[in-house]
Amino acid sequence: METTKHLVLIIMIITIITTTYSTSLPTLTPEQNQIATKIIDAMISSGSFEDWSGAFLNTNDEINGPVLTSTLFLPKTSVEGINATSPLVASYHIVPQWLDFSVISLMNPFSRIPTLLFGHSIVVTNNSASGFTLDGVLISEPDLFVSPSIVIHRMASPFNFSRYGGGDGVS
Ligand SMILES: *[C@@H]1O[C@H](CO)[C@@H](O)[C@H](O)[C@H]1NC(C)=O
Ligand SMILES: *[C@@H]1O[C@H](CO)[C@@H](O)[C@H](O)[C@H]1NC(C)=O
Ligand SMILES: *[C@@H]1O[C@H](CO)[C@@H](O)[C@H](O)[C@H]1NC(C)=O
Repeated sequence: METTKHLVLIIMIITIITTTYSTSLPTLTPEQNQIATKIIDAMISSGSFEDWSGAFLNTNDEINGPVLTSTLFLPKTSVEGINATSPLVASYHIVPQWLDFSVISLMNPFSRIPTLLFGHSIVVTNNSASGFTLDGVLISEPDLFVSPSIVIHRMASPFNFSRYGGGDGVS
């Protein structure tokens, strides 16, 4: 009886924490939206996660054009059922904020990071120094690429937004 009550209480607290930490995406300007669309188109046309970084850097080039200040989470391996050519998958792996590892590593568990996939965010699942995970996926090479406006982190595998994104509707 007591155990059940405690369990209910714990679940309620977790729900409250998860809800409180959700943040929403700052509205992008039309120009930022245009760059975002260009980047996502290039990534999904590249055909594989391996080619995402080249596509991302070529279309988000701070020397030759306007840049979308952003962070790309680049999956190291592919996973059956998560398609590198899906615009939803690509959008969910880009955060329109500059988040190098020194910034990310200060985030607490259950913190949510809004992505370019509308209404979906990435959640901090473990913030221990030796095993920092987002959506249950290890950041295998933090700060793989860092410039004044862009960051790329390599992730052990792709994110699953249906499971962790916290949204409803898109699947
Ligand atoms: C990946 O998605 C694209 C576009 O939606 C589709 O054409 C392709 O068949 C999919 N590939 C796999 C392996 O599901
Ligand atoms: C977080 O990761 C560390 C290191 O891998 C592990 O020891 C710890 O148990 C994990 N914590 C949770 C809550 O999963
Ligand atoms: C992604 O998450 C959904 C919902 O939890 C699950 O049904 C699906 O099997 C997951 N896909 C992969 C590739 O893990």
